[in-house]
Amino acid sequence: LRPTHRLLSCPGTVAADVKREEQSSRNVETGSEDRTPKKKFSEVQKERREQAQRTVLIHCPNKISEKKFLKYLSQHGPISNHFFYESFGLYAVVEFCQKESVTSLQNVTRTPSMDTEAAVPFKSRFFNVKMKNPSNQTSEQSCIQYSNHTPPSSKKLSELLCYAESIDDQLNTLLKEFQLTEEDIKLRYLTCSLIEDLAAAYFQDCTVRPFGSSVNSFGKLGCDLDMFLDLGEIGKFNTNKTSGNFLMEFQVKNVPSERIATQKILSVIGECLDHFGPGCVGVQKILNARCPLVRFSHQASGFQCDLTTNNRIALKSSELLYIYGALDSRVRALVFCIRCWARAHSLTSSIPGSWITNFSLTMMVIFFLQRRSPPILPTLDYLKTLAGAEDKCIIEGHNCTFISDLNRIKPSGNTETLESLLKEFFEYFGNFAFNKNSINIRQGREQNKPESSPLHIQNPFETSLNISKNVNQSQLQKFVDLARESAWILSQEDKDRPSPSGNRPWGLATLLLPSVVKSVSLAKKKRKKPASERIKNLLESIKSSSPENDTNTNGK
Ligand code: CTP
Ligand code: MG
Repeated sequence: LRPTHRLLSCPGTVAADVKREEQSSRNVETGSEDRTPKKKFSEVQKERREQAQRTVLIHCPNKISEKKFLKYLSQHGPISNHFFYESFGLYAVVEFCQKESVTSLQNVTRTPSMDTEAAVPFKSRFFNVKMKNPSNQTSEQSCIQYSNHTPPSSKKLSELLCYAESIDDQLNTLLKEFQLTEEDIKLRYLTCSLIEDLAAAYFQDCTVRPFGSSVNSFGKLGCDLDMFLDLGEIGKFNTNKTSGNFLMEFQVKNVPSERIATQKILSVIGECLDHFGPGCVGVQKILNARCPLVRFSHQASGFQCDLTTNNRIALKSSELLYIYGALDSRVRALVFCIRCWARAHSLTSSIPGSWITNFSLTMMVIFFLQRRSPPILPTLDYLKTLAGAEDKCIIEGHNCTFISDLNRIKPSGNTETLESLLKEFFEYFGNFAFNKNSINIRQGREQNKPESSPLHIQNPFETSLNISKNVNQSQLQKFVDLARESAWILSQEDKDRPSPSGNRPWGLATLLLPSVVKSVSLAKKKRKKPASERIKNLLESIKSSSPENDTNTNGK
């Protein structure tokens, strides 16, 4: 169960965020490029992390007076931002201006006393607020404004898409409805920050960073929260930093391999989350996977979390995707569309298996955009040539260097519409030689497949790895068949597009509704196969209306 949050926004305090969101939606609506300087990935991460560290999560009674609640909390210092959301109860995310306010609040907070059970006295930034006199408060209850941030229901989506003016407009609508909201992003960083507090009990100065679709700009509302437990540069201490004749080292325990160290660390953190982590439930330790992880559900935020460590390269690929997503406004719109299309046809699933993943689909879109003429996206090798000295990055012997300042990358001169790109995407992959070629975003061209997996997408940094090794032939075939069918449906759309005010599904709506895809394609096929039949009928009717036949008919 993955509740997405009903967020209750607070006028005034989130004004700046709302403005930013409006701004971004305006850009989404017009499709116009935002020419304001874009932040580096590391700058965004730093800023959000710092915000999260001075933020607390509070479970509130349903009938709370917002005004009194905020007044009470501001005894500990000024509040820079807050919002409420619902996820099996009412929660408030409160961001103080200073970190010290959090400590001040913790100092007046008690560990609950239980009658029949005992509490583990773990002091976190996740609180429960109770009312001393509930009856007094209800009468003064302020009206908290609701703003619903769940993705739209399929009915609502279908309506929105039907009333859009063009297919480009439909793709931008889809992006706007499914992208992570400002509040959802804040909650993701806060959740990581809360887990970091727990891990810090063992590993001082560790960092828990979100990666994957939560931060790479391709996350859909409700996507999982991938976390990376960063234990710092173990073994890479810069000796130049210390002066004098001695070199200090920590006394540590040794284990036979890096993998075993990772497994031991995650095992202990998993236990800790299970026993002491407030709101962490369903903890599973999946330590024998290629990339060992701890999976759990963070109840209060509703996020399904995957915690890994020793996975720094994945953070780098998140940064690379962030750059690609920010370079051209068509990239995210197309990726969201393909992700939604794949989900609608069960090409992807939340359960791991032999199906295509969202990450692979994103790589396919990026590759396709690199193949356009002129290209919409540059190759990774080109981004590497633009890198400055400060961008140099080698992780475990893999060269992960590329430019981090995306403002220095020249925008593409390609002016294709989203509609045309979507159609071309389906045609391109509907006819791709998957049997012999590998998809390679580093070079931006097909390579001979180095191994026999049905789908081969080279990991951009660990180049010997195939990111879609899990995909079997039948899933790939399903993708190809659906891509061909969708290309065909879009080409038919040109011919019989209804007037935009009509409520019959058209364009993207036709592609996203599985039942519709089937019935439309069947209906059209019926019309098409029997196109010959219609011609036959036409001939018959011509024949029957000919004077000759007239006579015959009359003669009967
Ligand atoms: N990753 C990788 N190789 C894989 C799978 C994942 O390098 N074979 C990295 C990617 O950086 C990816 C991240 O791990 O973004 C998280 O993986 P996953 O959660 O599967 O993908 P997301 O991109 O987060 O997409 P989703 O919204 O489906 O979670
Ligand atoms: Mg993910």
